[in-house]
Amino acid sequence: MTISWKLVIHGGAGAMRPVHGDEDHEERARQGLRNALEAGSAILNNGGSAVDAVEAAVRVLEDDPCFNAGRGSTLNAQGIVELDAAIMDGEDRRAGAVAGVRTTRAPISLARTLMERGPHVFLSYEGADRLAIEAGLAQVDNSWFVTGERRRQLDELLEKGGFDADVKYGTVGAVAVDTNGHVAAATSTGGLTAKQWGRIGDSPLIGAGTYADDRSAAVSATGSGEYFIRAVAGHQLGERVRLAGETLQDALDGTLEDIKQLGGLGGLIAVSPSGDCAWGFTTRAMYRGVAGPEMQKVAIYAEEDMR
Ligand code: GLY
Repeated sequence: MTISWKLVIHGGAGAMRPVHGDEDHEERARQGLRNALEAGSAILNNGGSAVDAVEAAVRVLEDDPCFNAGRGSTLNAQGIVELDAAIMDGEDRRAGAVAGVRTTRAPISLARTLMERGPHVFLSYEGADRLAIEAGLAQVDNSWFVTGERRRQLDELLEKGGFDADVKYGTVGAVAVDTNGHVAAATSTGGLTAKQWGRIGDSPLIGAGTYADDRSAAVSATGSGEYFIRAVAGHQLGERVRLAGETLQDALDGTLEDIKQLGGLGGLIAVSPSGDCAWGFTTRAMYRGVAGPEMQKVAIYAEEDMR
């Protein structure tokens, strides 16, 4: 049976306060979402795989400084960019995840490389960048990822002596179902501004920020990572579908509610092998987009309809 392919993406959830002195930011972000949808859609429209599509979509968002992943990522408390990413193929539940990447331009492609090469599923810090060098993936100086706005945000936070988890939970992600009914998920992030040395969020944790299983759903998360880890968000959503028989949207809403009960906020996107798609968020806004054959929509604020 041929499935009508679907691609859903997010570019982070949060309060979406206007970016300091940059009135065009919102329009550039919307265009960035469209560019990512186009990259993934071109693959799915030609009968390509969900895993190729989610990698391609996330790569576009990583290279776009509007989003907190790759170039334009948040800085940790020491002023360094440390990147986390994961990818999962629902057909066989293979996965690759990397954390603390400092010099690899496309962390999602590094996660994909690890997934393909094995034998490990999760590499961190120097080991992750070493694999990238060995595999011939493009390397950049850490300063290449840094934008003036992210530097300003770090300085402002450090001046306040704190850690503002309320600004915007950047992170980018994509989930897709291909025409063969296989699902895949990919997530990439710089994490939280002023994060402590060694802090790893939910994005690269398989089952928390990233999950894909052809028996249930593919899921990518954005939000206060610590709570998404504790709720095992992606896996929870999938098992609500698989074991409890919930609809995809009910499973997504129930998972977000569970996270909220713990004190966490953010958003989720999901697709099922039969071609359903769902999204939701408990923040004021979430950069998001959806595409299918001959359909493409992007939105930011809650009041914007994507159906
Ligand atoms: N959700 C991204 C992070 O907490 O790092």
